[in-house]
Amino acid sequence: MFISIEGGDGTGKSTQAQMLKLRLEQAGRDVLALREPGGTPIGDELRRWLKGPGTSNPWAELFLFEAARAELVQEVIRPALERGTAVVIDRFADSSTAYQGYGRGLPLVQVEALNRTATGGLVPDLTVLLDMPPGAALARLAETGGGTGRVDPAAERRFEEEPMAFHDRVMNGFRQLAAREPGRWLVVDATLPEAQIADAIWERVRGLPGASAG
Ligand code: TYD
Repeated sequence: MFISIEGGDGTGKSTQAQMLKLRLEQAGRDVLALREPGGTPIGDELRRWLKGPGTSNPWAELFLFEAARAELVQEVIRPALERGTAVVIDRFADSSTAYQGYGRGLPLVQVEALNRTATGGLVPDLTVLLDMPPGAALARLAETGGGTGRVDPAAERRFEEEPMAFHDRVMNGFRQLAAREPGRWLVVDATLPEAQIADAIWERVRGLPGASAG
């Protein structure tokens, strides 16, 4: 079982990923929670780079995300799935389509082709979109770190500090991706209370094959 959680910055993805991990564990599953970019030595290095100085070349930016992804899929995600561990990931390939495709304006077909190359065609069984107007999400992030209590230092807020029009394009992109593949996506209103969001996600996850052990 492979589940990704997507949405704009500040929509509460990491909280929901942790809550879903707990519920799956309570149902007797082994669970690995990951986030992109990160999770391998190169991934962690690229994360620092991408959140900080980054690059003004959108293709270079895309390749760095894809490099981190290719390594994470091969070294961590596939081996986990093969030994029967469920994987919950905070962002996956759809983030590149939304941010580098819709947000930066790179051609979607090329971004999606690179996603397929980096993932070797691995697609989540379920992708949750935490849907919230970008203005509200970014305000929440500035105040509370998106519920994590962590506010990134200024040098690590490259994406958060993009203009609102960028975040609107990203959110609109996520919505279009969800509309295109309704069987894979679950869209949840991320302005709802945390517990209600977690319940809505669990309702869908418990119906997936292998949601509980045995
Ligand atoms: P992160 O702190 O993980 O943001 P969030 O908590 O909102 O997930 O930083 C990752 C940033 O990188 C985030 O702003 C989204 C962006 N991103 C891309 O632009 N493309 C991608 O493929 C991925 C995985 C992330």
